[in-house]
Amino acid sequence: MGETIRFLLDGEVHEVRGANPTTTLLEHLRGPMRRTGTKEGCAEGDCGSCTVLVGESEGANGEGGVAWRAVNSCIQFLPMLHGKALLTVESLAKSGALHPVQQAMVDKHGSQCGFCTPGIVMSLYGRAIAAKGATAPVSEVLAGNLCRCTGYGPIIEVAKGVEVEPAPAVDLSAVRGETMLDLSFEDEIHGVTRRWLSPRTLDELAQAYEAHPDAVIVAGATDVGLWVTKQRRPLPTLISVSEVAELKALDETAEGLRIGAGVRYVDAITAVSKLYPDVGLMMRRLGSTQVRNSGTIGGNIANGSPIGDMPPALIAAGATLVLRRGGERREMPLEDFFLDYGKQDRRPGEFVETVFAPKLDAGRIFKVFKLSKRFDQDISAVCGAFSLAVESGVVTDARIAFGGMAGTPRRAKACEAALIGQSWTEATIEAATTALDSDYAPMSDMRASAAYRSLTARNMLRKVFLESQDIETRVMPESARG
Ligand code: FAD
Ligand code: FES
Ligand code: FES
Repeated sequence: MGETIRFLLDGEVHEVRGANPTTTLLEHLRGPMRRTGTKEGCAEGDCGSCTVLVGESEGANGEGGVAWRAVNSCIQFLPMLHGKALLTVESLAKSGALHPVQQAMVDKHGSQCGFCTPGIVMSLYGRAIAAKGATAPVSEVLAGNLCRCTGYGPIIEVAKGVEVEPAPAVDLSAVRGETMLDLSFEDEIHGVTRRWLSPRTLDELAQAYEAHPDAVIVAGATDVGLWVTKQRRPLPTLISVSEVAELKALDETAEGLRIGAGVRYVDAITAVSKLYPDVGLMMRRLGSTQVRNSGTIGGNIANGSPIGDMPPALIAAGATLVLRRGGERREMPLEDFFLDYGKQDRRPGEFVETVFAPKLDAGRIFKVFKLSKRFDQDISAVCGAFSLAVESGVVTDARIAFGGMAGTPRRAKACEAALIGQSWTEATIEAATTALDSDYAPMSDMRASAAYRSLTARNMLRKVFLESQDIETRVMPESARG
């Protein structure tokens, strides 16, 4: 059992003992480390002013070298850094000379109040040293960095001039222990012991969760982080799944794609796009680069949010879920996992192990539409997913699921019934849109009114039909979507 958090900072070993496991990386940077270049804007993953780069081993045994990724330090718990490497904005300037990205921000007037600037610099530096380097679209790289005063024109000019450069070489073996990280912290103020367990194998995870069924599982912490920073929930015991190698596996088979619950969006997007191109496009709009670099598909499912984007798409595709408790596994259709608002079919000590996304039959219509106020980095008001088989002009099968229309992501059974066996015509579609009213009674909230949600759900179905007739319905050109 290792009780010290150990990571590389600018290539040097940095150790932390006795920290509360729910301390965020940002708190540690700005507090004990006095690295105050990293800013706190929102403390919820939205603004990117806290962006840092984290380097970690690629591949099950580190055979892929070290990959550097931009993450929001405000919602990373400090123990998540264990065994990894860290670069902050202070890492960049050398011998008093600004890094070229920083110098370009000065020369091209990319900064006014400067609050967002360190985060923007880190995102652009991350792009410069990433494997794909300067080929990553600037709009994607900067979608998670908000600037309220400069305006993006000069910042984009800076981004266009950033040249690819080699990533810093680091040796993670000095910080990468071989045993489960097991931290405990006596919180004298609240009179409780706080604990962080980071198992390394699936069996260790199963045992740890059986022993602590009240623990909160944490994967990328893009949801759980906010429970601490915004809701101030105490979370006495946390079990991290992100070091479990088996959960990071992505297996492409003849039947489909098996996705380990710990696979992050950034690692899944290429394989998912091959299987379901529309889901790939939607995933590029899910959160920001920083969120996709941490967040997992397993976390999106297990969180059970009615407005999570992956469940409707995966339900429409006919995905199944494998849950595990101790040595016992059970499999279920994904749609059966969501019982009610905030309630999933998961027993104490049971965790999500994998999700299986099946290949679609040739010729099937498969469409996913995410509707949100902003194109990037915004939670959906409505997310609709449609999988339809049309043979000789007749609908032979339909699986339709929506997020944002009910307390859970849910299938539109009445709408499906109104389509199956009918001819694929505008009249059938109109009848099916009416059926949607018996499937859902959506609510009004800050994202959309109930009436707007109902209307847009109907319009999504109409859009599926029009696009199947090769009638262009997209307001946003294809080039701007990817
Ligand atoms: P975590 O936060 O680590 O965990 C989420 C939940 O799942 C917790 O209840 C945790 O206990 C549980 N959990 C995680 N893994 C397991 C497991 N293997 N077994 C059992 N339980 C488990 N979501 C969207 O759908 N669309 C968006 O556009 C979007 N935008 C976002 C933008 C921002 C700025 C932020 C901060 C979040 C956004 N999210 C969005 C929400 C979030 O990023 C996703 O839900 C993400 O997939 C959660 O994954 P995670 O690995 O971070 O989960
Ligand atoms: Fe806004 Fe972290 S402080 S994303
Ligand atoms: Fe002020 Fe960007 S320079 S927020």
